[in-house]
Amino acid sequence: MTALSCLRPVWPLALAVVTVVVTGCQRQPAATSEVAPATPAASASEITAPASSPASTVQAQAASDWTWDLPDYLPPPRVPADNPMTQAKVALGRYLFYDTRLSGNGTQACATCHLQKLAFTDGRAHGLGATGQAHPRSPMALGNVGWNATYTWANPALITLERQMTNPLFGETPVEMGVNDRNVKQILQRLADDPAYAPRFAAAFPQDPAGRPTWDHIVKAVSSFERALITTNSKYDQVRQGRARYTAAEARGYALFKSADCIQCHQEPNFGGQFLSVATVKPDVSFHNKGLYNLDGQGAYPAESPGVIEITGKASDMGMYRAPTLRNIELTAPYMHDGSVATLGEVIDLYAAGGRGAGKDSPLKSPLLRPRHFSAQDRTDLIAFLKTLTDHQFIRDPRYSDPFPAAPKKS
Ligand code: HEC
Ligand code: HEC
Repeated sequence: MTALSCLRPVWPLALAVVTVVVTGCQRQPAATSEVAPATPAASASEITAPASSPASTVQAQAASDWTWDLPDYLPPPRVPADNPMTQAKVALGRYLFYDTRLSGNGTQACATCHLQKLAFTDGRAHGLGATGQAHPRSPMALGNVGWNATYTWANPALITLERQMTNPLFGETPVEMGVNDRNVKQILQRLADDPAYAPRFAAAFPQDPAGRPTWDHIVKAVSSFERALITTNSKYDQVRQGRARYTAAEARGYALFKSADCIQCHQEPNFGGQFLSVATVKPDVSFHNKGLYNLDGQGAYPAESPGVIEITGKASDMGMYRAPTLRNIELTAPYMHDGSVATLGEVIDLYAAGGRGAGKDSPLKSPLLRPRHFSAQDRTDLIAFLKTLTDHQFIRDPRYSDPFPAAPKKS
């Protein structure tokens, strides 16, 4: 755990119990700004798959009984060597993702802020933690989340789902699930007291046939479940696979999405930045300033969520954010890291203006954010295209749904 000190913002609590891979200081200053430095995410030791693999059905490891069922334009994600995908882990992870016993006071599960029907967001501008504390940022969509080179809105140091998960579990600024030194054992005991869990843990982690819950196994199982949250049946996918055709408006919107530079930051096939698969040679790890704020004429963002600068301390990282996936964007309002943009129409306004308010004149704004003229027709077309990224099957897929029998009070 030597890396704890250098990863302080990421690991707010001394968690000797968690044995997720910690990478070390050499990676901490990594990836910021639009110039991508050497591959923070690709560095070999914790990642299994070879850099050049055939696109479909690559087994992450011999131990894995998992087959990726993916279209040819979506090569499998990288999977940490010490957490190969298995059916049993994904099955266990699904229970844990939906289990409120995992939070300190028993009120919240991951699924409280990540709802399947909203593509695993929650419709809030700010996540609301188990103790009522508001998160400075908006919960993120989790479809195809296994392909991100870094996690959360603006943290170049969080390069695996395993490490990301320690944030909502153990984070204290803000409290999300509120696991801490005082309740950390009690939570494991709650799970151990449920006789249904031992066989699930034992199946997922055969090295412990007794199936005792540990934080290491919890994190690995939930991360495996998250990697299994695959969205590849939107209209965009169906068209790409020759199973559907765009309307004229959608086709024009797609063309505009490319010609208006949206695609520079929201790249196919996930329509986000920082795509990383087994076939990626050099991942894009760039962050961008979109001119949402400019509080001081120097480009300052609000102190509660200033962007990558919070992690790196570098002035040029002010307001830098990862371009999030636009898959299922129709369902994930409000938009941006702080939910400060209510509708897709407003998003287009923002891009047309080349930023928002004083942010338009921010010296830190990306050069791609120049003002553009969008006609009324252009706007309708762009939104029509963005809506082709909605995967109606994904948000109803029983494999991703709450596995617990519905309590009477639940709707
Ligand atoms: C209190 C609401 C809340 C809870 C509970 C919560 N999350 Fe989140 N989640 C968020 C917010 C807010 C963000 C954005 C965080 C940031 O940018 O710092 C986020 C981001 C994420 C991301 C990053 C996605 C990406 O594309 O980078 C993942 C993965 C994630 N959460 C998984 C989980 C898991 C697993 C759990 C349960 C252990 C969980 N979350 C519990 C609110 C929550
Ligand atoms: C310079 C890179 C860049 C370009 C170009 C760009 N985006 Fe973005 N986009 C981002 C970043 C970064 C964010 C997140 C910003 C934040 O939260 O502060 C974002 C956020 C969004 C969101 C909200 C996502 C969410 O989950 O809240 C939408 C929608 C969007 N962009 C659509 C577009 C469209 C449409 C275009 C073209 C007109 C475009 N983007 C061009 C980088 C870019």
